[in-house]
Amino acid sequence: MSLRWTLALLVVLLFGCSSSDSGPGDTSVKDDGVADSSATDLSADTTTVDTSLDQATPDDAALEVDTEAPYECSGVPTGRTLSAEADETFDLGPYLMQATPETIVVMWRTLEPEAGKVSFGPSGENLDLVVEETIPTLVHEVTLESLEPNTDYDYQVESGGRTSAVHTFHSSMKEDRPFRFAVFGDNQNGPNVLIKVVAQILEFGPYLVLGVGDHVQEGNMAALWKEQLFGPARSLFHQASFYATMGNHESRSQDYFDLYSYPNPSDDPEHEAYYAFTYGSVFFLCLDSMTLLCPLGDVDTPESEWIKEVLESPEAKNAKWRFAYSHTPAWTESWSPGECTFSGNKCMQDWLIPLLAEHGFHGFFSGHTHDYERGYYDGLIHFITGGAGGHLDEWCLDHEGTTVVYQGHNHLEVDVGCDSVRIQAVNLDGDVVDWVEFGPETPVNIIDEGPADNLPELIVNEASPTLD
Ligand SMILES: [Fe+2]
Repeated sequence: MSLRWTLALLVVLLFGCSSSDSGPGDTSVKDDGVADSSATDLSADTTTVDTSLDQATPDDAALEVDTEAPYECSGVPTGRTLSAEADETFDLGPYLMQATPETIVVMWRTLEPEAGKVSFGPSGENLDLVVEETIPTLVHEVTLESLEPNTDYDYQVESGGRTSAVHTFHSSMKEDRPFRFAVFGDNQNGPNVLIKVVAQILEFGPYLVLGVGDHVQEGNMAALWKEQLFGPARSLFHQASFYATMGNHESRSQDYFDLYSYPNPSDDPEHEAYYAFTYGSVFFLCLDSMTLLCPLGDVDTPESEWIKEVLESPEAKNAKWRFAYSHTPAWTESWSPGECTFSGNKCMQDWLIPLLAEHGFHGFFSGHTHDYERGYYDGLIHFITGGAGGHLDEWCLDHEGTTVVYQGHNHLEVDVGCDSVRIQAVNLDGDVVDWVEFGPETPVNIIDEGPADNLPELIVNEASPTLD
């Protein structure tokens, strides 16, 4: 029983009156729940009541006084229990996109145009809520609405006479609560590696998954989306929303825009390749590094103009944590064996990263290079995690800010806590090869960091500048 109802019951017992009675010592209560002492005439009967309510009448206390404290973050991040079942009822999916506290998008692809439906309900209850499609289609996109925040739901898809297994999603949270997310990228032509990475991520139990691009070897080859991404990741995508960014290997194919569903505040279909969203205490900024990302001299591009706007939004400013991600890294120390021809994205080095740092960003995730790298630049932490399946790259040059390079397949596991965020890189053997933990203040103040000892694929340059 909440404190509010406990107190309400107590004062009703003391006064023995109904809500329509005008009791002795009638007291008005202001909207903010603070009793107005100017209207107070306390009777002796109230002397046994907790003094925090000694100016409220039984009627007002029962109806208006809310003594529950505002929500405060507590606890530590824990994983969801996720199933490894890969449901092959449909060609692709069902898979999840865009989890908000009130809505989530369920998608699946069929081989013939069909009009299907999604049935859902809070986990353990009947799937009484139903959203039906009205127009037959191949790629299905159904938005479930009126969800309770931070709640497990079961759902099931029926389409073309077939019925999926029952899967589970979790609605996003409004409050600052601990949660987990994972990051992987550059799985492209390595689906057997991605299968292992997905198994590891399922064990970790994330609430959402970021994809840093190159999720297929060639985006215009339609079959690869299933063979290299949606097939190997089928079980994970049933249960956690996937937030991908555009890689060079996606080739700006129509399948990228058809198979993913991301916020697009404009009429420009290309805008779906750069978007922002909030999950709990975190503001996420997904950037399209495959097009005009930065201003051209003094002239903004559509994306640079949007970036400036969204960084000033209440969602960005009010978040406790801020992370951005794109396919291309701003800095890399590695590249294809024998080819030291790429060292990072210059416009991101000169414009984007300083701008993000100026706006209180904590981290930047990227891929493109097939390894793991961690660096500290302009007050934020820069990661490369392009290690979910593509051929591995080799170290070839040094950047002063990059402190750890791991030449092996990997993914990232992120624990978002109340007072700190911990990010760890995990290899295919399940070893934590590197980690970093930091608090909410920016420039980022590192509390603890790796890397692990005795891993031959590790190249450690130097300690991060903020670690004593
Ligand atoms: Fe790439």
